[in-house]
Amino acid sequence: MGNNLLKGKKGIIFGALDEKSIAWKTAMRCYEEGAQLVLTNAPVALRMGEINKLAEAVKAPVIGADVTNMEDLKNLIEGSMKHFGGSFDFILHSIGMSLNVRKGKHYTEMNYEWNQKTLDISAMSLHKVLRTAWDMDALNEWGSVVALTYIAAQRVFPDYNEMADAKALLESVTRMFGYYYGVKKKVRINTISQSPTRTTAGSGVKGFDGFISYAEKMSPLGNASAEDCANYIALMFSDYTRMVTMQNLFHDGGFSFTGVTGAVIEQMEK
Ligand SMILES: NC(=O)c1ccc[n+]([C@@H]2O[C@H](COP(=O)([O-])OP(=O)(O)OC[C@H]3O[C@@H](n4cnc5c(N)ncnc54)[C@H](O)[C@@H]3O)[C@@H](O)[C@H]2O)c1
Repeated sequence: MGNNLLKGKKGIIFGALDEKSIAWKTAMRCYEEGAQLVLTNAPVALRMGEINKLAEAVKAPVIGADVTNMEDLKNLIEGSMKHFGGSFDFILHSIGMSLNVRKGKHYTEMNYEWNQKTLDISAMSLHKVLRTAWDMDALNEWGSVVALTYIAAQRVFPDYNEMADAKALLESVTRMFGYYYGVKKKVRINTISQSPTRTTAGSGVKGFDGFISYAEKMSPLGNASAEDCANYIALMFSDYTRMVTMQNLFHDGGFSFTGVTGAVIEQMEK
């Protein structure tokens, strides 16, 4: 049911773990809009095997890469350029992992070695991906890169833990690299700040159920779904957003600019 929004465009999608993943929905949407894709995820995620279903549905090869490993990234970009027959147009960075959250460490008792890994996987990996694409001149002029983030980069959501710091760093890399890639090749780089969404990464946050229903009540349009997010990402990869770069784009049903809602007041008065 696409509109050929991405006809002739080619790109890499990082982070499709299973059907719930934002990257999974995005791959489907981009394919429906006429894009050619390469899918990638960490070797450990590929072993789950789920991604093969997606690969079949969107007719894309899967090339494994640990996003923190520069050799893997070089191999991925090389393989993608071979598959596409040259440079390509877009990249989705849909990756997040917190070791301290996973291992139940409180923010004030952070394990710093785990924290280094978290920042590497969830934030500096965007720099590594962009640097590899830059070095190999892999992205076409007017190419578009999107990474996913969360509003805990700007405001405190205590249980988001060290991921708040990771997202703040991710958004900074987006602006900094966005400057250099814009000047060099008119490549645009943005983050999309998504509503809480029931995925493997999302559900890992402590108190997620309460959190997602609070956000639902605090958003005039309600929470944005993974499908809505996929639509927005497809638009960001299209030629209709050529002059948007270095932005953090809230995709959250209005949550970010809402002070309070009738639904929340009603709840408080109970
Ligand atoms: N779900 C939410 O509530 C929510 C809200 C805002 C932003 N986000 C962000 O959206 C993005 C996608 O997450 P999701 O919610 O679709 O969950 P998800 O668990 O489906 O996706 C996370 C992906 O990161 C991949 N990954 C982890 N370590 C990796 C590594 N070393 N190398 C390569 N890939 C690695 C995982 O394999 C997985 O595919 C993340 O950046 C997340 O922080 C999620």
